Amino acid sequence: VLFRQHDICAQDKNETVLDLLIRHNIEVSYSCKSGHCQACLLKCIDGKLSSQAKAGIKDTLVAQQYFLACQQSAIDIHQVADVDSELLFHRARISKKNLLAENVLQLVLQAQQDFSYRAGQFINLKHPLGAIRSYSLASVPNEDGLLELHIKRKIRGTMTSWLFEHARVGDEIDIGQAMGNCFYTVKDLDMPLILIGSGTGAAPLLGIARDAIKHHHQGEIHFYHGAGNIDGLYLHNQLVTLAQNQQNFSYHPCISASQTAPGMVRGRCNDLAMAELNVEQQPRLYICGNTQMVKSTQTSAYLAGVPLQHIYTDPFEYKDLRSIPR
Ligand SMILES: Cc1cc2nc3c(=O)[nH]c(=O)nc-3n(C[C@H](O)[C@H](O)[C@H](O)COP(=O)(O)OP(=O)(O)OC[C@H]3O[C@@H](n4cnc5c(N)ncnc54)[C@H](O)[C@@H]3O)c2cc1C
Ligand code: FES
Repeated sequence: VLFRQHDICAQDKNETVLDLLIRHNIEVSYSCKSGHCQACLLKCIDGKLSSQAKAGIKDTLVAQQYFLACQQSAIDIHQVADVDSELLFHRARISKKNLLAENVLQLVLQAQQDFSYRAGQFINLKHPLGAIRSYSLASVPNEDGLLELHIKRKIRGTMTSWLFEHARVGDEIDIGQAMGNCFYTVKDLDMPLILIGSGTGAAPLLGIARDAIKHHHQGEIHFYHGAGNIDGLYLHNQLVTLAQNQQNFSYHPCISASQTAPGMVRGRCNDLAMAELNVEQQPRLYICGNTQMVKSTQTSAYLAGVPLQHIYTDPFEYKDLRSIPR
């Protein structure tokens, strides 16, 4: 048991269970604080859970009273316990580490038991000291047999520093089950797919594009990848080759720096994608990467007439380490 409500009281109805634990210096795992990553899962022993605190959690875990501490008001909860790590995590082995760009690591994992997922979903990795962070899958199920992640280095980042500098091929790491709704579904095969990603937001989009091609998607597939500079377009050669070999696939590299190269557009990938959007063709949009870019593009697409159920998003929410949190 981590805490009892009669020991420590919620400040007000807006205080979440997570904030209450942090306020009392109780060691607790979290990352996004916005209901996305599930790093803050806890088990409710006594109390009334809100539907928001159970959103996106697997049914079997909800049945055992698991909930998202960052989405639950502390005032309704009297007692919580830590989660059963063996229920949430499996062992995997690092089978490859390779730099795709100066600051982007390709990490390939071999799960130690059957691992089911949809291309474009994300998994949680557990740091040896307990921190949990989410990474999107760039691999395609049943095709690779291995799980591929693209990881952007963060200065003094807990997980990324360890992965870049200390983790070695052959090491074991705990991985969570695949999560998230941003994946390709085999239907509406004639509709265009518009894939928009900034930075390592390209990782899930690569999986989604390859999965759509594997399932003989007939509509056009447009891949807009944006980065600050040319090095950040770390899939450039692979996507150029894909566009040469796959008739319905096109690649739109965008960089915001003043220096560009032939075939690259200067500007932001989401601005270009929105300028070229044809709503009458009933496109399906997949938007991944920087949180602000994802949210603003989702709003623009919706206002342009794309129904929300045709917009799939994967915002890469970061742990907020600023002195004044968001
Ligand atoms: C669903 C999901 C999928 C994700 N998929 C990927 C992925 O495929 N690839 C990937 O590289 N990352 C992905 N992320 C982000 C990833 O989970 C980590 O947050 C990131 O790698 C940083 O972890 P860390 O432990 O190294 O840094 P932490 O120790 O958590 O520190 C965060 C670092 O980021 C900085 N920071 C804080 N807020 C912001 C902000 N708003 N914008 C930018 N920097 C900030 C801090 O200064 C600090 O350096 C995903 C996140 C989510 C929620
Ligand atoms: S879901 Fe609670 S910290 Fe990410």
